Amino acid sequence: MIEPMPASTERSPIPPFNRAADHSSVTSPGRTRSIGEVIIHLEQVSKVYDNGCRALIDVNLQIRHGDFLFVTGPSGSGKSTLLKLLYGEERPSQGEVTVNGVPLSQAHGNRLSMLRRQIGIVFQDYKLIPRRTVAENVAFVLWAQGFTRKEIHRRLQPTLRMVGLQDKANCFPEELSGGEQQRVSIARAVVGTPPILLADEPTGNLDPDNSWQVIKILRKLNTVGITVIVTTHDEHLVRMSNHAVVQIRDGRLVRIQP
Ligand SMILES: Nc1ncnc2c1ncn2[C@@H]1O[C@H](COP(=O)(O)OP(=O)(O)OP(=O)(O)O)[C@@H](O)[C@H]1O
Ligand SMILES: [Mg+2]
Repeated sequence: MIEPMPASTERSPIPPFNRAADHSSVTSPGRTRSIGEVIIHLEQVSKVYDNGCRALIDVNLQIRHGDFLFVTGPSGSGKSTLLKLLYGEERPSQGEVTVNGVPLSQAHGNRLSMLRRQIGIVFQDYKLIPRRTVAENVAFVLWAQGFTRKEIHRRLQPTLRMVGLQDKANCFPEELSGGEQQRVSIARAVVGTPPILLADEPTGNLDPDNSWQVIKILRKLNTVGITVIVTTHDEHLVRMSNHAVVQIRDGRLVRIQP
């Protein structure tokens, strides 16, 4: 179990919800979550892929709203698999994953789509749409979720400012550095104000300065109440950050600190 973080006193850099269609809570619309409440729960979770590979074995983990957690471990240890189970890309072979009060074994179709809107995801390789500008890449998520044009406009600038890219709104991804592209992907992940942010090796392609900049943005998002889970190989980054860490080795959680 990860210790709860102190309650946030900072204001979110992103404007609050004002949607055409409100998807703010899957379980009970309008319900507010308290810092320290369990938001992710894995109970006796194992994952065996179709080829027989045992990627995760008997994983038990509770993550509380407001936590910032690093997941470390060698290549192939099961870090990405853990994140995939949290957003329902993969299903556990055994055990139950519960996210924001929803047991994922019971989340299919529309319910799963609604739950995924509670989760922002950042990948190592950014996954930006090449022929769309920075602004369009970020706005696309809101547009797909049914936000009004006015609301999209209202959210875009503060979100780009939060990642330091307000002057790059009209650039295309190929015109940006790797660090800038990763910051676009963070903006895209959080522009819908999800309570949970998952980042799978977000600094894997970046130099130390850009890596630290990305971690600082993730920390800032955490201070305004987003629960952040980051996988990384980079032990130095983990030590510098002083956040909770779980280590996975051969599919098992072997170390939880503090
Ligand atoms: N779709 C899949 N089908 C079969 N085996 C898979 C699949 N995805 C992952 N695996 C296997 O599951 C194990 C865990 O993989 P995973 O991608 O979770 O590791 P990881 O810790 O994220 O590694 P890395 O640090 O290299 O990203 C590995 O042995 C991998 O080969
Ligand atoms: Mg991985």
